[in-house]
Amino acid sequence: MDFFLDSTDLEEIKRLNDLGIINGLTTNPSLIYKAKTPFEQLIKNICSEIKGPVSVETVAEDSNQMIKQGIKLSKMAKNIVVKLPMTWEGIKACTELSKINIHTNVTLCFSTTQAILAAKAGATFISPFIGRLDDANIDGVQLIREIKQIYSNFNYTTKVLAASIRTKNHVSQSAIAGADVATIPPKVFNTLVDHNLTDRGLEIFNSDWHKSGQKIL
Ligand code: G3P
Repeated sequence: MDFFLDSTDLEEIKRLNDLGIINGLTTNPSLIYKAKTPFEQLIKNICSEIKGPVSVETVAEDSNQMIKQGIKLSKMAKNIVVKLPMTWEGIKACTELSKINIHTNVTLCFSTTQAILAAKAGATFISPFIGRLDDANIDGVQLIREIKQIYSNFNYTTKVLAASIRTKNHVSQSAIAGADVATIPPKVFNTLVDHNLTDRGLEIFNSDWHKSGQKIL
C-alpha cells in the first residue's frame, strides 16, 4: 500500500517524509486555504520535499477551465497530479487531460458508479472519501471493496486512493480492502505506530537488558 500525506503543513510534511516511507501527497482547496501561504510558492515548496505524486485540485465549473487549470498546474512540477471533481465536467476534463498524459485524481467519490466513470475517463487515481461516508452512516470501506472488485472485473488500471481518513482503523481496513493508496492526515499518521503492548514489551526488554549487565557497544 502506498502512503500519501493529506496535508499542506510543510513542517509536518518534512518531519514525516524523513521516515523514508511517504510515497506522495494530496491537497485540496480547504487544505490550501489552511496553509495561508501563497498558492504557487506552497506547491513548489511541497514538490521540492515530496518526490512522489502530489495532487493539486482545479477550481472551476466547466471542463474547459479545468483543462486550462490542469495544464497550468502540471507545469508547476513534474510530479503534479491534477485533481478533478466527480462531476460530468470533471469527467470530461479527465478524459481530455488523460489524452495528453497528464496524471489525474478524480476526487469527492462516494459511489461505485462514480468510480466506474473515473476509470473509463482514464483517471490515474480515484479518491473515495471514506470518512465522510462513515459520517453519513454509510460503510466507507465497503465502497473501497466494491470499487476494487469492479476494477478487477474490467482490468481498469485506475488506482484506488482511500481519502478522508479519520483513524488508523481506516488505514488498516482500507489496506485489507485492497486500496492502492491511503492519503493520511499527519494527526492520524502519527498514531500508526502506537500500541500499548509494544510499549510494555520494550520496557521489559530494556529493563532485563539493563539487569543483564551486557553491552553491545
Ligand atoms: O483529500 C481529501 C481529504 O482531505 C478530505 O478529508 O476529513 O475533510 O473528509 P476530510
